[in-house]
Amino acid sequence: MGEFIDMTLNKCPIVVLISGNGSNLQALIDASEKSDYTISAVISNRPQAYGLERAARAGIATRVVDHTGFGNRDEFDVALRSAIDEYQPALVVLAGFMRLLGGDFVNYFAGRIINIHPSLLPKYPGTHTHQRAIEAGEKEHGVSVHFVTEEMDGGPVIAQQRVPIRADDTPEVLAARVLEKEHLLYPAVVNWFATGRLQMADNKALLDNAVLPPHGAEANQ
Ligand code: GAR
Repeated sequence: MGEFIDMTLNKCPIVVLISGNGSNLQALIDASEKSDYTISAVISNRPQAYGLERAARAGIATRVVDHTGFGNRDEFDVALRSAIDEYQPALVVLAGFMRLLGGDFVNYFAGRIINIHPSLLPKYPGTHTHQRAIEAGEKEHGVSVHFVTEEMDGGPVIAQQRVPIRADDTPEVLAARVLEKEHLLYPAVVNWFATGRLQMADNKALLDNAVLPPHGAEANQ
């Protein structure tokens, strides 16, 4: 009989929250084997999210906390929090999770919840970021990873990656260019946290105990 070796032992446990396609989740799954984090569970607020299939295929536990089944946001937040707590993650990773989270929820996980957002924050918080950047005549766009705080898309930036905006770009073409960067950046940032390099203190992001500038760290550290 071969000896069974659990490759997830001693790795930093994370829970990933999704709402849809889950291409960032897939990037996190693909990078996990060679990283210091392990995905304990994937939780979706939408039962039909394709990311749930990606997780199941990778043998990762999945849960649905369907926001439509709750009378108000607070009740949803409480149910989501207890679903997450069952897995005791060190880090909660929002990957295309499209629900606003209330202050109590966010404060409970303060310093151990991060989000990826498709713009160069503080520009273009919210939705339709690619279309808005094109319409504003921007020459550059990109992606930000940040700690989640009560202010929507407003927590301290951990890292950004830039892409050019070309004259003939449609929102879809630009979104695809940004997503390529997202898929490289997010696993790298999660691994910074997993290896103890990344923290939030006094509403600032710190890498290797140094406060990061407003646009965050260079991605290739
Ligand atoms: C990604 O572009 C992510 O940055 C964005 O949704 C997409 C999800 O794609 N997130 C937000 O807009 C959060 N405000 P995915 O499901 O394929 O990872």
